[in-house]
Amino acid sequence: MLTLICRSLVTLGLIAVATALDAQENDPTLTLLQRLSDAPGTSGFEEPVRKLMVEAMKPHATSIQYDGLGSVIAKHGDTGPRIMLDAHMDELGGMVRRVTSTGFLTMQMLGGWLDQALVDQRWVIIGSKGPVKAVTGIRDIHVVPADERTRVYPREMVFLDIGARNAEEVAALGVSVGDPVVPDAPFTVLNGTNNYLGKAWDDRVGCAAVVVALQKLAATSHPNQLFVAATTQEEIGLRGAHTAADVIKPDIGIAIEGGITGDVFGGHPEETQVKLGAGPGLFLYDSSALPNRKLTAFIKQLAADKNIPLQLDLVQGYGDDSAEIQKSNGGVDPKTRRSDGGENPRLHALRSRVIRSRCPGTNVL
Ligand code: CO
Repeated sequence: MLTLICRSLVTLGLIAVATALDAQENDPTLTLLQRLSDAPGTSGFEEPVRKLMVEAMKPHATSIQYDGLGSVIAKHGDTGPRIMLDAHMDELGGMVRRVTSTGFLTMQMLGGWLDQALVDQRWVIIGSKGPVKAVTGIRDIHVVPADERTRVYPREMVFLDIGARNAEEVAALGVSVGDPVVPDAPFTVLNGTNNYLGKAWDDRVGCAAVVVALQKLAATSHPNQLFVAATTQEEIGLRGAHTAADVIKPDIGIAIEGGITGDVFGGHPEETQVKLGAGPGLFLYDSSALPNRKLTAFIKQLAADKNIPLQLDLVQGYGDDSAEIQKSNGGVDPKTRRSDGGENPRLHALRSRVIRSRCPGTNVL
């Protein structure tokens, strides 16, 4: 579920973009969100998303390039500071690990799944003959002992059922070991509200935000070299962000991500402080990176000047592309001085996160 108001604040002190997503019919941003959410794109299998991103960014970019791991980098502007605006294309998913003689499949999970999110779900396997529907079966309550009814099934006990009776029928459907698996969760406007239901909001909403930012910045003048990077393999170790940053060599890195709303049933204010629909969130802390304080102070001031409701968030876990951007190219101590005596601005990374909430029945991490 995603709030209607997905505002991404993007700044170097020189650029500011506020994007309001509107759920009206024929809204191109809504269409973009739907296409991005519905596209299958597990880590290492980002091609369907990459196609959409290239299609959306190419008309507004002065050049398109790729890093060696498949990240797309759209550039706009020829002079000025090098600004890396980042969102990752891959989503939580899995890959077929083993085909049993009885036609069931086991799954290697990719990314940070909770075991309780895996059972009794519909999935799509991207096989050699096209998409194949699957379900993660569970045992029937009539045969499950009482003490098992409230137990979380570990992922090792989860299997995919595609209706095949043996390994030969699995092969006949074009499914084999290593094929990507994504949740079967079509994009839906939730009951006419401004909330959207679907999979892969982490980080397709960031992908949509950086596309809109590029469109808006390309239509105006700005004094920067803007590099919009749609990265690969974030969910399994921030890998594409590292290689993309090596290519871009940014002075400033900004990752647009899915945040975590705390205003849900069972939520605790120490876990996360942002609320759905209350504006973009700016991460001041997580376990992977600390943003530059001067840059966050600037963003807070800019948000106040522009009347953008900015939320601040500190989360105990988490890790995203900003951490890897910050450490790339040798990293830079914010206190170091350039030869001209000014503060070296290189590689200050921060996150401006579009707020999302949990999506029952879909991948949400
Ligand atoms: Co993410």
